[in-house]
Amino acid sequence: MSARLGTGAAPGKVILFGEHAVVYGQPAVAAAMSTGLGATVEPASGAPALRIPSWGRGGLEVRAGEAGPSSIARGFTRALEVLGLAGEPLAVTIEGDLPLGVGLGSSAAFAVSLLRALADYRAVPLGGAALLAAAAEVETVFHGTPSGLDHTVVTRGGCLRFARGETPAFRPVRLARPLPAVIAWSPREGSTRDAVEGLRARRDALPAAYDGLFAAMGAVAEAGVAALEAGDLATVGRLFDLNHGYLNACGVSSLANETMVALARRHGAVGAKLTGAGLGGAIIALCPDDAEGVATALVDAGFRAIVSRIG
Ligand code: MEV
Repeated sequence: MSARLGTGAAPGKVILFGEHAVVYGQPAVAAAMSTGLGATVEPASGAPALRIPSWGRGGLEVRAGEAGPSSIARGFTRALEVLGLAGEPLAVTIEGDLPLGVGLGSSAAFAVSLLRALADYRAVPLGGAALLAAAAEVETVFHGTPSGLDHTVVTRGGCLRFARGETPAFRPVRLARPLPAVIAWSPREGSTRDAVEGLRARRDALPAAYDGLFAAMGAVAEAGVAALEAGDLATVGRLFDLNHGYLNACGVSSLANETMVALARRHGAVGAKLTGAGLGGAIIALCPDDAEGVATALVDAGFRAIVSRIG
């Protein structure tokens, strides 16, 4: 085995339109963030070890194959198996300022940065469809049945229109201008798996009612692509508001999501929605006029918030 270092990186993601509906075959739009994760692999002794200093209280440390509920340990073990490195004496460190588990693609960025670094360490090429398939395997450990949206945008970068299927279809969305956004978040009240499974149970009890909501979100996503490509921020904002209302109707919003969205709108956002799986976690607000003012209002109310230019 090579003794050289391996490195890999991946961005976080923000879903602009269509989370949850994408699980039911509707189109969605997501963009890579400028913040993300970087992984470094080096030779070590003992079972493969993984350290993420910026996650958890005082950092996360796991060993591959470790028993227990840690999905990070299981995801790490799966990535090592996929790359043929199970049991190898190596140590991985993942660093970056992407927050864990708030709907900004931390698990997809974890999977893709780790796989890239392990492939680099082994000096084997891993890109294109092979990387997407490997990332899907690791994401499955975290989410059960991911649509593929998160790891596709995190792997490909840019802004994508995505639809799941036997072969997922995605194409770049060419933003006419960057989106002046504020991203804010609070701790989650449930995981992505909880949010997706809870909605699945509600939908299975009332399929016609929920499938209508999913179709409406699909129409919002298609109108969103057109507005993004035309640079029509007023329409993008209105579509954010519509999409958020549908997500609330689906039962995946929370008091914290509603509070953040309302605060952002009150302080001048032209539209705001939860982003990601919901049940707490992140929102995105479109703020062409005073993004700093919106971010400050959210921070003053006790939330975490950053100003971000998407695209
Ligand atoms: C989670 O980031 C996005 C969801 O649509 C789940 C998925 O696409 O697998 C909620």
